[in-house]
Amino acid sequence: MIYKARVPTNIAFLKYWGKSDEQSQWPANDSLSMTLDLYTETWASAERGRFPFASTDSIEDTDPFFHKALRHLKFLAKHLNFQEPISIQTHNEFPAGCGLASSASGLASLTLAAIACWTRSSSFEELEKNGFSRERLASLSRLGSGSACRSLWGGFVYWQKGANISSQTVAPLFPKEHWALRDCVVILSDVEKSVSSTEGHRYASSSPLFQTRLQHLPQRLEAMKEAIAKRDLPQLGNLLEEEALEMHEVMATSTPPCVYMTGSTFNFLSFLAQSRAELGIPMYFTLDAGPNVHVIYQEDDKDKVQDLFKEYKTIDVAIGAGPSISELAHD
Ligand code: PMV
Repeated sequence: MIYKARVPTNIAFLKYWGKSDEQSQWPANDSLSMTLDLYTETWASAERGRFPFASTDSIEDTDPFFHKALRHLKFLAKHLNFQEPISIQTHNEFPAGCGLASSASGLASLTLAAIACWTRSSSFEELEKNGFSRERLASLSRLGSGSACRSLWGGFVYWQKGANISSQTVAPLFPKEHWALRDCVVILSDVEKSVSSTEGHRYASSSPLFQTRLQHLPQRLEAMKEAIAKRDLPQLGNLLEEEALEMHEVMATSTPPCVYMTGSTFNFLSFLAQSRAELGIPMYFTLDAGPNVHVIYQEDDKDKVQDLFKEYKTIDVAIGAGPSISELAHD
């Protein structure tokens, strides 16, 4: 049998940037995200040589994603004591380096497919019966890439830091049906980022702005939750923009500095602000660790937004329902 995991990527509204403990991926602050309707698919099989990438491969491969994925697969096998060799294939529905977090969906789908295969589980219900609740799968995914733990649910997802490493939690806040938001990712550069997020997290606390940021984040979080609960896009949008800019200020003022925004990013942000004022469309930006811009807007404005950005390269996606697991017969 082949076990397939289809796991969405997510965009953070309140950002995770900086860790209190790197080894256990304990974040410096809570974060909140929207799951996107855009997926990484990963297939796992216990049949020898079925897929090109196997748990028995050497870790020396130079491709950074492959390296990270293989290291995580070996960690899972050892930590969970699964000795059976498995082979893996993975495919992103979106291009790498386009400003969408492929490590979130990639590492979560690898975790799900591998554990489904080792435990012969073809649904979340079976995984749960076999000792792997969604919360446990989220914790294991988090050890591959922090933001991966938020990809285990659809809609709006909240990752709470908790008082200590073992008390952190991830849980859905509202399902996708709560609010038909969309994310239009405007691709201004497809060059791979100069500083990986793993490195960037390490430098965050060296920014003189970092402690101040941590102090006022709880207030911003509450205001964001309230805006989402009320489906108030202007209120949420102002918070999204101030949060994204603040994360980039922390990045740019850390030692060494991580400067991800480019001239094209700034030009686009002023075009967006001007268009919003002229056309009255509620649409607001957020940013990831890169130069590309995520424009958050409501489904009803889809045609207008797509028309406005038609000169740009974009990936426009709806809020997503979350991951799935299935079992396919070998052909
Ligand atoms: O999951 P990581 O280690 O790649 O870090 C993600 C960091 C950001 O994407 C910039 C913010 C976030 O919360 O997703």
